[in-house]
Amino acid sequence: MKRHFRVWRGDSSGGDLEDFDVEVNEGEVVLDVIHRLQATQTPDLACRWNCKAGKCGSCSMEINGMPRLGCMTRMSTFTADETVTITPLRTFPVIRDLVTDVSFNYEKARETPAFAPPAGVAPGEYRMQQVDVERSQEFRKCIECFLCQNTCHVVRDHEENKEAFAGPRFFIRAAELDMHPLDARTDRKQHAQQGQGLGFCNITKCCTEVCPEHIKITDNAIIPMKERVVDRRYDPLVRLGRKIFRRDQLEAAGESVPRATPATAETPSGRRLPESPALGPDGRLDIAELSAPIQGGPSPFGEDITFPLPPERVTYHHPDPS
Ligand code: SF4
Ligand code: SF4
Ligand code: FES
Repeated sequence: MKRHFRVWRGDSSGGDLEDFDVEVNEGEVVLDVIHRLQATQTPDLACRWNCKAGKCGSCSMEINGMPRLGCMTRMSTFTADETVTITPLRTFPVIRDLVTDVSFNYEKARETPAFAPPAGVAPGEYRMQQVDVERSQEFRKCIECFLCQNTCHVVRDHEENKEAFAGPRFFIRAAELDMHPLDARTDRKQHAQQGQGLGFCNITKCCTEVCPEHIKITDNAIIPMKERVVDRRYDPLVRLGRKIFRRDQLEAAGESVPRATPATAETPSGRRLPESPALGPDGRLDIAELSAPIQGGPSPFGEDITFPLPPERVTYHHPDPS
């Protein structure tokens, strides 16, 4: 059927909504309709996209005023006679049509101190408990669509706040690193408060509402970070404890300070031990699945392969058939 669309056309000097009647088929998403518009009526309509699978975070736009991914918004969510209005993200400067300049976010990303690996541990020797991985795993789902950044009123309505405010996407990054058991920096909270403008956030949860990855930005990242900032600054017992047990003082005095330390061959008893499977004498792993009696699912190696694979086809230590 034909559906009515209004699409914003223009550039940094200004623009307006243009009306289109476009064919829509069952099962299509808004990005399909934009592609049909480009193919049939307006070949110069600018729109950013890559994966059409909700994973690259490129096709962020505002659809009927709601920040959404074009490729994840089904046409069936609108009533048959509803006009669908598509506009660019409002918080960022327009380049052309539906494409905005999101460099603000990359500048904020550069300002966020990177993961600081623990001293003396080589890449590949990092060891973490699964329970610690799970805490921050949620934040790693971020596809950097910047819908949360676009929605947050702190910058959406106040251009002047952009310098001091990093936004929800970077609060989850700060929280993720703060929860990371191997991150050697101890100033994540101070940076979030003083460098990223965490105090501007008044927990409206609008960022959480629009996140296509359903990351609980406010409940699981921002609020815990705010609580830890408050604990650190105002709780008299924590302040006293910090005065007595400050990690840097203890370390300066040459004492070992218990923390989530990466396991190494020299790990003393009482600390976390390596949890990866043991390597064979030739430095390769045993792969138990190859000798398991039940193979699960279709073989990724193709139909004509029998198990176990011949040793020359594998790059790991082959299990002893006995
Ligand atoms: S909860 Fe905070 S970061 Fe999220 S939209 Fe509201 S003010 Fe912005
Ligand atoms: S937190 Fe969610 S809304 Fe924000 S950039 Fe990441 S995926 Fe997008
Ligand atoms: S095109 Fe990749 S998220 Fe929509």
